[in-house]
Amino acid sequence: MNNAIARTTALLSTCTLLLTGCGGGTSTVTTSPTNSPDSTATNTTATTGTLSSAIPIGIAVAQTSNVALLGQEQVAGAKLAEKYFNNKGGVNGTPIKLVFQDTSGDEAGAINAFQTLINKDKVIGIVGPTLSQQAFSAAPVAERAKVPIIGPSNTAKNIPEIGDYVARVSAPVSVVAPNSVKAALKQNPQLKKVAVFYAQNDAFSKSETEIFQQTVKDQGLELVTVQKFQTSDTDFQSQATNAINLKPDLVIISGLAADGGNLVRQLRELGYKGLIVGGNGLNTSNLLSVCKALCDGVLIAQAYSPEHPSEINAAFRKAYIDEYKKEPPQFSAQAFAAVQVYVEALQSLDKNSKVNKLQLPELRTQLNKQILGGTYNTPLGEIGFTPIGEVVQKDFYVAQIKMQNDGSQGKFTFLK
Ligand code: ALA
Repeated sequence: MNNAIARTTALLSTCTLLLTGCGGGTSTVTTSPTNSPDSTATNTTATTGTLSSAIPIGIAVAQTSNVALLGQEQVAGAKLAEKYFNNKGGVNGTPIKLVFQDTSGDEAGAINAFQTLINKDKVIGIVGPTLSQQAFSAAPVAERAKVPIIGPSNTAKNIPEIGDYVARVSAPVSVVAPNSVKAALKQNPQLKKVAVFYAQNDAFSKSETEIFQQTVKDQGLELVTVQKFQTSDTDFQSQATNAINLKPDLVIISGLAADGGNLVRQLRELGYKGLIVGGNGLNTSNLLSVCKALCDGVLIAQAYSPEHPSEINAAFRKAYIDEYKKEPPQFSAQAFAAVQVYVEALQSLDKNSKVNKLQLPELRTQLNKQILGGTYNTPLGEIGFTPIGEVVQKDFYVAQIKMQNDGSQGKFTFLK
């Protein structure tokens, strides 16, 4: 564990313990967790505007704030990809170099990080941001500058539609979310009454709850209440009580990790015994320290399985387990895949027109075209893109959280 990660982990623990007060702000911890062999490479864009050494790819995710509960996993996945692809020769012999800029958890932080990566670090493209809420503000900055971005975790509706330079490797809520409701029905075919909760200040949560609510209707279930909260909330007593009074058999939550974890905990503390489905914002083992033993049984749909049978996933999984001593999570696999898309698109482009001979604006534009035209055998399985940059992916899963009785440890168990 390097110092940067140690600092981030310490901060996360503090956020989790205090369960409050870890909002955005660029003056908190800013980290540049590049520890690859080539991390000492200097700025790679010569004054002529062409590449002179390692190829800089921007990583703009949340390394601070509560959103770092997700962003921390993205940093891990991206770093593993940098190491993996550089060990394999990078882009036809030229290494890549990841340039990290912390977005923190809000829109201003994401815009700032994007501007720095585009104008100062002169990256060829960006992986980020963490939240859809941030992407709707920051992605237009990249679009105007004609810099490709790949969303590693943005799952709200209409992300690729932001512009020609905006793609994502994170399958949208419409594809992923219904799977967990179907899994809940399989576990309890008698279930009828459903209470839905969502964070009304978060674009992804609003988008995901629409899909969840539609799925509830499509499955012939009864939506007994829709309760709203904020991602910054820590007290959910009144919404949880309102819902429990209506005796639901299933509660579905669209929020992020800290708020979602606290909501799960308080629902259980108030006596709710039915099934709980958590959305994509709860899909991190960082949730487990928030709801501890009371996380047990939460169902969460997955766009990645550590068991996916392929050589690259085996390599990714082994590298992740070696470093972090646990199975790789979806957010890490998606970040790995996003970096992979850049590397393989650059390799293909380089075969036709040497990337170190192209002026940066031309390289960014040609790279964007190349990204959208390719297919990539990633740890997520084979993925490609529609002409507007929506990910095309085949395999999806559902996992259920299994906690030890004392709540000290837990894991995601994949359902058959
Ligand atoms: N999937 C979440 C979002 O899109 C993280 O914001």
